Amino acid sequence: MTAGLPPAPRCDRTEAWAALKGHFAAHGRDFDLRDAFTRDPSRFASLSLEAPEVFADLSKNRLDVATLHFLLDLARECRLEARRDAMLAGAPVNATEGRAVLHTALRAPRGAAPFGDQVHATLDAMLAFAERVRAEAGTGFTDVVNIGIGGSDLGPQMVVAALESFGHPALRMHFVSNVDGHDLEPVLRRLDPRRTLFVVASKTFTTQETMANAQAARAWFTAAGGTDVARHFVAATTNVTAAAAFGITTTFGFWDWVGGRYSLWSAIGLPIAIALGETGFRALLDGAYAMDRHFAEAPLARNLPAVLGLLDVWYRNFHGFSSRSVAPYHQGLRRLPAYLQQLEMESNGKSVDLAGEPLPFATSPVVWGEPGTNGQHAYFQMLHQGTDAVPVEFILVRRPAHGPGPRDAALEARLHAQHRMLLANGLAQSQALMLGKTTAQAATERAPTAATGADPATIARHRSFAGNRPSTTLVLDQLTPRALGALIALYEHRVFTSGALWGINSFDQWGVELGKAMCQDLLPRLDSGDVTGLDASTAGLLARLR
Ligand code: F6P
Repeated sequence: MTAGLPPAPRCDRTEAWAALKGHFAAHGRDFDLRDAFTRDPSRFASLSLEAPEVFADLSKNRLDVATLHFLLDLARECRLEARRDAMLAGAPVNATEGRAVLHTALRAPRGAAPFGDQVHATLDAMLAFAERVRAEAGTGFTDVVNIGIGGSDLGPQMVVAALESFGHPALRMHFVSNVDGHDLEPVLRRLDPRRTLFVVASKTFTTQETMANAQAARAWFTAAGGTDVARHFVAATTNVTAAAAFGITTTFGFWDWVGGRYSLWSAIGLPIAIALGETGFRALLDGAYAMDRHFAEAPLARNLPAVLGLLDVWYRNFHGFSSRSVAPYHQGLRRLPAYLQQLEMESNGKSVDLAGEPLPFATSPVVWGEPGTNGQHAYFQMLHQGTDAVPVEFILVRRPAHGPGPRDAALEARLHAQHRMLLANGLAQSQALMLGKTTAQAATERAPTAATGADPATIARHRSFAGNRPSTTLVLDQLTPRALGALIALYEHRVFTSGALWGINSFDQWGVELGKAMCQDLLPRLDSGDVTGLDASTAGLLARLR
């Protein structure tokens, strides 16, 4: 089952793991960030890293240079670099499915990675198609509807939203994923069938939700007088035969060595290519390739994806933090948390190792979040004063990239001022999480909203913050296609790193199958009412739902 993977011990069976346990007991459990900055004012310099397009400040995390050394020992003992190289070379590192994992080949220049000819032939064809759609925008198509789910939705949707200001002004992009008709119907309601292009995106072309939505869209199209299905429906899939059976003649293919959640760089990226055009899509790939080179070549101690993955292991397995909150301070990145949920939780939400042995330690944290500043007015209360410490990942973008005008100078100035407010908010949150506020400090302050006559000491306790809450801050100069490509690849490799250390297969997803199979059994029962053999809860609910 581990064919293709260089032999390596699982993390908990290494000397470094034992050393980390000792280090945690001596220096980790009671680590205080404020003391750490007092002891070592150069923490920011020693614990910040530079990677292509992304600067990372790790200094507000509960680790120091010594911790990092122990973690790097762990990476070496687990042969992280050999595992990385095996993946990049096209070894079948997805051992349970006997597949290579080569999303990196999709963004490599021709000749720099396996399968270059196939990759570039498809890329060129897809980009030429995208350019044709763009050239006729307005007179040809005005609306593009991507129908897909999971990796065939989240990546393209996230990227198109993030780079909205780089999008084609005459093309409206829509994403329909849920089998719930409340997703599809409001989109269809606004469309003109003569001006709509549907992209059916599905690696397998068998996914229930996508097939149901695609069939409903085709039925709507023909009922509304549409005649040319072959012109109005195209597909991105590895299952060209099934797409043809659907009536689709324009298909952009990809390969089984591209995992669904790693597929936005492939034909699944067609909506991105249509929105951004060839230049934008190639810049996205280029940014990811730059991060791939960094991951492949930078020494581990300066290798940002590797270090973030090691920090994730430190937090999950030693500090016991069970979740990580992502706070992108950029409205365009509003779908990033959802995208990262699939990337990280579908990849590393596993409880057996490569040999199928149950793991005695925790794996994927829960990843969640909202863009800043919105999250501040919702759940940040819990991050600041709740009983659990949740590491937060701030993403700050130095310069805004508002779309083309016309905008008058006064509005332009206001938008820039608001961007400074945004940045100040992000900085303030990470500072407040770390510094906190003692009860004594709180007692010296006036609390205008405190109840009249309330005991000041009691109010001060309510208004104090423990602090020492960890965070990482990633800084981009501007949210461009290249920068976003690098950021996404950073997350992919970070997930690879923690998965490799945990000794799991980050590239299968057997966990989604049980529910799918049970759904097939329950679907006809909703019509027939047959509850034979069902547990009492499911039977009762089914009866209630009919
Ligand atoms: O249900 C999980 C999953 O297989 C994901 O891994 C995948 O991204 C999604 O479904 C969609 O699959 P497909 O692209 O084959 O429709």
